[in-house]
Amino acid sequence: MQDLLDSALARIGAAQTGDELEAVRVEVLGRKGVLAQLSKDMAKLTADERVARGKFINASKQALESAYDEKKSGFDRESLAKRLDSEWLDLTIPASGVAPGSLHPITQIQWEIEDLFRSMGFTVLDGPEVETEFHNFDALNIPGDHPARDMQDTFWLDGGHLLRTHTSPVQVRGMEKLGPPLRMIAPGRVFRNESVDASHEHTFYQLEGMMIDKDVSVGNLIYFMKTLLTAIFKKEVTVRLRPGYFPFVEPGFELDIRCLICGGDGCPVCKQSGWVELLPCGLVNPHVLRKSGIDPSEWNGFAFGLGLTRLVMMRYAIDDIRWLQSGDLRFLRQF
Ligand code: DAH
Repeated sequence: MQDLLDSALARIGAAQTGDELEAVRVEVLGRKGVLAQLSKDMAKLTADERVARGKFINASKQALESAYDEKKSGFDRESLAKRLDSEWLDLTIPASGVAPGSLHPITQIQWEIEDLFRSMGFTVLDGPEVETEFHNFDALNIPGDHPARDMQDTFWLDGGHLLRTHTSPVQVRGMEKLGPPLRMIAPGRVFRNESVDASHEHTFYQLEGMMIDKDVSVGNLIYFMKTLLTAIFKKEVTVRLRPGYFPFVEPGFELDIRCLICGGDGCPVCKQSGWVELLPCGLVNPHVLRKSGIDPSEWNGFAFGLGLTRLVMMRYAIDDIRWLQSGDLRFLRQF
């Protein structure tokens, strides 16, 4: 019996791996194991012998179990040590930097202007980039045979649709949807079939504005435009007003600012003139009001069309419009 026990203990001690130990455990401590063999012929024993055998079996059970436990925890410690060795994590190493990207400079300036106009009671409207001929031209007092259609080279689509050439059609949608009195701006992307150079792109951004109320004057227009420019450039800029022709305003003006890139000496952005056309504007033509169902004897207003792309170029002294849509990260990361 002692031999049986000793050899079982020796086998536990000899197990080389956790798997081997488990196999030994089943053989030695399982139903057909050493303990079962020790109890096999109990019935043939005398009462005294049985007591002695019982004690021996209990002692054996304890010896086997503690030998097993000790061996097992040795293997567990070993495999944990191995894992800790291979899977360590150093929480003190600084995290690698996050690169969250940034807003495009046009988006930044657009949001700034939206905030400014919201604070003055204007609603921000969105309109479709694929427009109808009616909204882009006719409703703005530019009928099919009007020479002003040639002012804007249009990308025509099928079915009388087009890519909007300006954000002014959103005026029309604003009037149709909200009616007077109305204070709205409409930022957005516009498209023209132009040959591209340092100051022309086929795709660029404008911000349209319109206010309709009773007795709106050129004085009101000038006030809002000055508030706008002061907020944008955060300093006095030199401006000049010229009469300008747009079929949807009467009288119409061109508000120019002195070129902030060359200071007025002449550069590609200002086409060597020292001035940049920034802000065409005027009082809304009565025809335009009438076409959108507003009675011009009761209501009038002003409108303006701000070139957002050009504005960004002025503010950051960007000398080539093509940078803005280039997707070049070296450019974009500067903002
Ligand atoms: N829609 C004109 C353009 O893109 C710009 C413009 C001029 C808008 C005068 C206006 C305005 O609202 O009053 O050329």
